[in-house]
Amino acid sequence: MASTRKASPVPKLRISSFIKAISILGIIVVILAYISWSHFARIPTAFDYQKLPPSTEIQADNPSGQEWTQKVWQTSKYPVTAMSEEDRTHFKTWAVLNPDWGHEVLTDEIMEKYVRDHFHQTQPQIEEMYFAVNDYILRSDLIRYLVMLADGGVYNDLDVGCEKPISTWVPKQFEDTAGILLGVEVDNKYGPDGRTFTNGEDLFELVNWTIMSKPNQPFMWFLVQRVMENIKKLAASKNEAISEMVPTIPEVLVTTGPAALTTAFFDYASNLTGTIVTYKNFTKITEPQIVGEVVILPIQAFGAGHQVQWAGLKQDGSQLVHHYFAGSWKGDHHDGGWQDAEHKALEETKKKKEKEKAEKEKPDKADEGVTTEENPGLAPENNS
Ligand SMILES: *[C@@H]1O[C@H](CO)[C@@H](O)[C@H](O)[C@H]1NC(C)=O
Ligand SMILES: *[C@@H]1O[C@H](CO)[C@@H](O)[C@H](O)[C@H]1NC(C)=O
Ligand SMILES: *[C@@H]1O[C@H](CO)[C@@H](O)[C@H](O)[C@H]1NC(C)=O
Repeated sequence: MASTRKASPVPKLRISSFIKAISILGIIVVILAYISWSHFARIPTAFDYQKLPPSTEIQADNPSGQEWTQKVWQTSKYPVTAMSEEDRTHFKTWAVLNPDWGHEVLTDEIMEKYVRDHFHQTQPQIEEMYFAVNDYILRSDLIRYLVMLADGGVYNDLDVGCEKPISTWVPKQFEDTAGILLGVEVDNKYGPDGRTFTNGEDLFELVNWTIMSKPNQPFMWFLVQRVMENIKKLAASKNEAISEMVPTIPEVLVTTGPAALTTAFFDYASNLTGTIVTYKNFTKITEPQIVGEVVILPIQAFGAGHQVQWAGLKQDGSQLVHHYFAGSWKGDHHDGGWQDAEHKALEETKKKKEKEKAEKEKPDKADEGVTTEENPGLAPENNS
């Protein structure tokens, strides 16, 4: 009896330490699984994100990445105290209507520090690209995407005023699914400066002056990756170093600007849905649409104040921001001559196409009058 009593504790001890080891291992496995899940769960598997893996370290203000960051971001050549009276008037609208929100103005120096602080450790290729680019318009486009990616919040150009508290912006039906809000700038045959988009057939372009995003969203990664590729391609096509490149305005628009944003969105949406998504999926929408985490708001939301084309300026509360369209950089960017020439060339192509189309459509047009209704030819507010 005594011998069995003596013998039994030894294997018991062994079993319990075995169980302990197993449970510690189990806990480690669960923790590792959770970490990798929270790391990758937000990323659709259909994409190759290997070049830009999500990094928890860059989610500075919002580690979960699942909440809207309550912060307004703007970029300015001058600090707030040295801003023009006009800019300050628009600037104040954000504070007045969103008293609980943070508000940060990034000057050139702060932008550089921002990029270093947020990307040096985790995404050095982004930091490298930002510092390689010397053209300040390309940088201005880049920084808004980078801030939305790293911190999230609402980015606005200085010539944009707030019309409605940001807390009301996210459409109720998408409260659980939305990660990014984008607006429509132009939805018309021809844009405000005669530019055409999608092979010169129609023009549909997303707004670049206001972007709302949660941090670390898949589309923002896609966009950043895309514009970096575009910059490299442009430099290669011009046979110039990225640092020496001085792109023309049309080049800016398709490389990093609103046309690049729009194309990237269509490609992202196509990839995500396995369908072919073009402007046709979003033209003249009157209700917000969502693809993945990206909500496209109807033109009144962000586009009002610029030219609302067919939609008209509605006083129904659907206008969220007012864009005053200062367009300041165009005047002092590059030499003035080519811009006029480029513009004229586009105008001529446009007129030629209009003429050809009118001739083709003559018999039908008389009955329907559709084209004139679609293209009321509102005078653009500006575009200096
Ligand atoms: C933003 O888009 C507008 C409209 O297309 C364009 O005129 C402006 O130059 C863009 N701004 C930047 C910084 O790309
Ligand atoms: C998906 O994205 C890639 C990379 O941007 C692009 O080359 C490809 O055409 C897209 N696929 C579809 C179906 O749109
Ligand atoms: C976009 O439009 C095409 C053509 O009508 C359709 O097949 C596709 O399903 C649409 N995609 C989305 C995401 O709405």
